Amino acid sequence: MNVATTIGKVDYDGLIPNNVGLGEDVRVKRALEKWHPGYINWWKDMGPEGFQESLVYLRTAVSVDAKGWAKFDYVRMPDYKWGILLAPQAEGRTIPFGAHAGEAAWQEVPGEYRAMLRRLIVIQGDTEPASVEQQRHLGKTAPSLYDMRNLFQVNVEEGRHLWAMVYLLQKYFGTDGREEAEALLERRSGDADSPRMLGAFNEQTPDWLSFFMFTYFTDRDGKMQLEALAQSAFDPLSRTCRFMLTEEAHHMFVGETGVTRVIQRTCEAMKEAGISDPYDIERVRKLGVIDLPTIQKKANLHFSLTLDLFGNEISTNAANAFHAGLKGRYRETRLADDHKLESSTYPVLRLIDGKIKNEDAPALAALNMRLRDDYVGDANVGVGRWNKVIESFGIPFEIKLPHVAFHRHIGEFSKIKTDIEGKALSDAEWQAKRSDVLPSDADRDFIESLMQLQLERGRFASWIAPPKVGIDNKPGEFEYVKIA
Ligand SMILES: [Fe+2]
Ligand SMILES: [Fe+2]
Repeated sequence: MNVATTIGKVDYDGLIPNNVGLGEDVRVKRALEKWHPGYINWWKDMGPEGFQESLVYLRTAVSVDAKGWAKFDYVRMPDYKWGILLAPQAEGRTIPFGAHAGEAAWQEVPGEYRAMLRRLIVIQGDTEPASVEQQRHLGKTAPSLYDMRNLFQVNVEEGRHLWAMVYLLQKYFGTDGREEAEALLERRSGDADSPRMLGAFNEQTPDWLSFFMFTYFTDRDGKMQLEALAQSAFDPLSRTCRFMLTEEAHHMFVGETGVTRVIQRTCEAMKEAGISDPYDIERVRKLGVIDLPTIQKKANLHFSLTLDLFGNEISTNAANAFHAGLKGRYRETRLADDHKLESSTYPVLRLIDGKIKNEDAPALAALNMRLRDDYVGDANVGVGRWNKVIESFGIPFEIKLPHVAFHRHIGEFSKIKTDIEGKALSDAEWQAKRSDVLPSDADRDFIESLMQLQLERGRFASWIAPPKVGIDNKPGEFEYVKIA
């Protein structure tokens, strides 16, 4: 079948809305219909707890047209239409990088790269249900109906991202793809025996500040990985990732504006109470808001956990995936070099004789480092906007991302302990300082004490400001979730 004939046309009526011509692809359609009940069971077991019957004002992807791809309506989450939507095929697309640069993009998986490609898809796929599992308790402490709706929106879209990866596995990887698709429903975030594949996706998301930090920092890792995979020579993966990126933007919006609103509320409350010292923590907390130093600690935690997702600074896997044309760089097509990197170098931050130093490494081996550098640059932009809010209140405080060596568990710096500036610390010094730079039990208890469910329309918990505009331009008192 010519894929081009199905572009733009979304079959929205069937069990699985799609623009991949599933109706004519009996084998894959059956495989997905067989996988569907297991997915629904997983969603009911591991999806948002306590709100499965509530009507949620959600957007559903109904097309891949950049101008109008979503439709908003009330939906019970288990009835959400998790579709398979690929961005339109770019006519005459060629492979932008690696050994096959300039050749026509692949519509099928070349045998020699099958295992490597499957692994990349499974790792990406595993993160999607993991975050739903991590966030499943948060509905019970939502600071408003607006925020609750945003949480559920992120959750159903992560579910759709799982579908996106499962489609690729079922369509292009035969029996082992099917087995991987099953296994994606079996692993559980934080489970001792069968955890999710990556560390940050086994951590807890115990409160709403964590949720906002997670969607800001960790969903942004998702963005970088999807950007790199969107360059892939394997065209169906590229197209899938391109459409996922449209949804991902909303997740990071939820994170960035969420943290902004927390900061805003803290600054407002401090101003009203005449407190100008951000370190007057006890007084600030008495106002029912989260003090800025604690917000900084949460950022330190989520940023450092997320950096681990980029893997080892020097990596043969990353080199192989690039060389093969499977995973490119951030904005590969906009970079002006030979896109093969066989003879170039890239500066990598390494631990040499106990000192952190830049060292030129073969560019192919340094691709994880490069993606991480791009990530840090991207993550800093929103931090700048947070600081603008603090500055507008005249409060002498600045949120800063810690040094990349801080609190690491993977790569060069996992062997050392450092302060937030990257200065090496002895174990004893680290233990003494830890609660100054990462959330302590007391900080967690305090934040938890603020996490009270607010179900009244247009009302917000004490610690967070309302958003500037509503979702889908709805007014402030709009009932984003009809609680059942
Ligand atoms: Fe996702
Ligand atoms: Fe996401």
